[in-house]
Amino acid sequence: MIRVAIDGPAGVGKSTTSKALAGYFGYAYLDTGAMYRACTWWCLNRGVDLDAEHPDADLITAAVGEFFTEDHFDISVDPEHPDVLSDGVSIADQIRSAEVSSHVSVVSSIMPVRHLLIAAQRAFIARESDADSFSKGAGIVAEGRDITTVVAPDAEVRVLLTAREEVRAARRAGQTSLVTANGTVGKVGADDVAARDKADSKVTSFLTAAEGVTTVDNSDMDFEQTLDTLIALVEQAE
Ligand code: C5P
Repeated sequence: MIRVAIDGPAGVGKSTTSKALAGYFGYAYLDTGAMYRACTWWCLNRGVDLDAEHPDADLITAAVGEFFTEDHFDISVDPEHPDVLSDGVSIADQIRSAEVSSHVSVVSSIMPVRHLLIAAQRAFIARESDADSFSKGAGIVAEGRDITTVVAPDAEVRVLLTAREEVRAARRAGQTSLVTANGTVGKVGADDVAARDKADSKVTSFLTAAEGVTTVDNSDMDFEQTLDTLIALVEQAE
């Protein structure tokens, strides 16, 4: 069983490369950001105020608890068909909305929420050691902000995937169609990434690598080069 933990800031191509890496080895793929996004979507849907200057941590924790403990939430760890479900219905598109993106840091900054999600993430990772699991016990790639440090600090492969800030902003803007006709970055997209990373980095440590974590800076790499670098790291651990 190989556990691959990948952390990094927004706009570094973490999801795309993690998914491809999991697909290459036949491993499961866990997008922990999608879990925080799903909780945010659930709170917004229930009218929980996430705009307040001092968000109500108890109310948010209760809403997220309801989402998880009453089994409304489910996630597919198949890297070919990643999906997030609420009561059996896919919410994959909804959790990528601008509204969710701009509120997710509020939800993810609440410690009881983090504890709930970290426990669920550890359970997903542990489940993959089973012969009956998606990966038949072979392994899992889990990506997020605190996988190398908190969720799975004992993972066989631990990577901090990063890139220079302007490169990340350009990539993220491309994802959200904010690239202008001449290829420069729309200001809103660039600002959104920087603001979210700033808020997130108060709670999780993903800007510098913890001890034993390999930094992969892909500013000057394309997708294939990034993937090949990660494949080589996993092969070393196999
Ligand atoms: O990876 P993605 O950009 O989808 O993550 C969305 C948000 O979820 C992050 O901005 C962060 O607030 C939160 N997150 C987190 N810890 C993780 C993964 C994501 O706090 N392990």
